[in-house]
Amino acid sequence: MITERDGLIVVENADGVRRYSKRCLHAGGTLVAQGDGTYRCPRHGWVFDPATGRYQNGREQPLYAPTDERAAWHERGERRPLKHGEFTLTFRSHASVTIKTPGGLITTDPWYTGTAFAGGWRLTEEQLAHGPDAAAEAARGWIWISHEHTDHLSEATLRALLSYNRDLGVFTAANERVTAALLKAGVARPRIRVLPVGEWQDIGDKRLMILPDACADNDTGLLVEYAGHRVLVQVDCRNLCGGNVPEADVLLGMFAGGASSYPVCWESAPAGNPRLELDIAAELRDATRARVWVPFAGSHEPTDPEIAQRLPRNSPYAAAEHVGGWTWLPRPGSVLDVANASLEPIEAWAKWTGLVHDHRLIVRETGPLIREYTVDFRDASVRAGTVPIEPWTSMTVDGLLWREAMREGWSLDEIAIGYHARFSRAPDTFDARFWEHMGRGLPLGRTP
Ligand code: FES
Repeated sequence: MITERDGLIVVENADGVRRYSKRCLHAGGTLVAQGDGTYRCPRHGWVFDPATGRYQNGREQPLYAPTDERAAWHERGERRPLKHGEFTLTFRSHASVTIKTPGGLITTDPWYTGTAFAGGWRLTEEQLAHGPDAAAEAARGWIWISHEHTDHLSEATLRALLSYNRDLGVFTAANERVTAALLKAGVARPRIRVLPVGEWQDIGDKRLMILPDACADNDTGLLVEYAGHRVLVQVDCRNLCGGNVPEADVLLGMFAGGASSYPVCWESAPAGNPRLELDIAAELRDATRARVWVPFAGSHEPTDPEIAQRLPRNSPYAAAEHVGGWTWLPRPGSVLDVANASLEPIEAWAKWTGLVHDHRLIVRETGPLIREYTVDFRDASVRAGTVPIEPWTSMTVDGLLWREAMREGWSLDEIAIGYHARFSRAPDTFDARFWEHMGRGLPLGRTP
């Protein structure tokens, strides 16, 4: 007999009782009863038969286990404010980012040269041009390989890195295909560290954890923590941690698929739903409470122009618009200061101004890191997003310039009179106290 109880699918027969979650194994959709004893996921159409415990495609649904709120990835280290430039990410290409702290570098899935998937995928010209710089720097630190697909494990790139550093160190989860490819590329066996999934590891001044994908044995994600601040790299994990995901400050997440049968070309591909992948991305962002979301691991081109036409993908820009909130849209070589994923430096600046006044400054930063926040000068508090409590002034400004202005303690005149920002206000009256203080009333010198 198949019933539903407490939100679970319950199967009772002579062998006993089995319980299954209604969370789809594929990418976390909710299974819906079809009336014939089976359940269908509306997201991509997987059909689950509780009688067999399997999906029609042969995948086995694990038995329900209550979410373990004590999973090791939920333990967060003590958090302290970051100094400018102390913890940064440099985007390299496709699924590769260099994570940098004073204690060293970790670079994910380096693919800087050659093609992937037997010539079917290529990098953009811009990514290829950045390749030598990327390789030279990545070779100075650890490399992490998420899985064996050749857009993540590029033997040609590893050989390039080894030309800079014969002792290149690589860590990965247990995966004999990854290990074999690393050895073939020339990585010395003692320099390959196979790490357990779901356990913290200290590497220099950081700690990290390789995370599981409940949907695929070979895919893994990565959580890196420094001074209590966290970067989460989803890579290709569709069902990261079975949905019991850790919190993070920055999430590098999937965005490209869903618009068609991408990345596999079917002759009779059903019409895709370009929004679906982005809904899933937004859901993960909410679950991880990430302040900054980064569309990641989708920047390649099919080498076949017909395929490029036939399998449209979400662009990072459309993804940013759909997912919303603070987003980093990096070019190869762009750097994100993880401190900018936090409100703390803005709060420090707001206090430093010394202005106590009934006025809100709404800031919309443009540039690679798109972020919006509101400073309330009644108590120097800062909230992400727009808080349009009048009176307010809003300012749209280049993010890099404005962050320099806050750090260096520049007068707002430098930005306003220099035409570096666009302003609006409500009510439409001049607030002399706000403008005079921000112009000539700021303390002298840099913010602390
Ligand atoms: S079929 Fe269920 S999430 Fe894709």
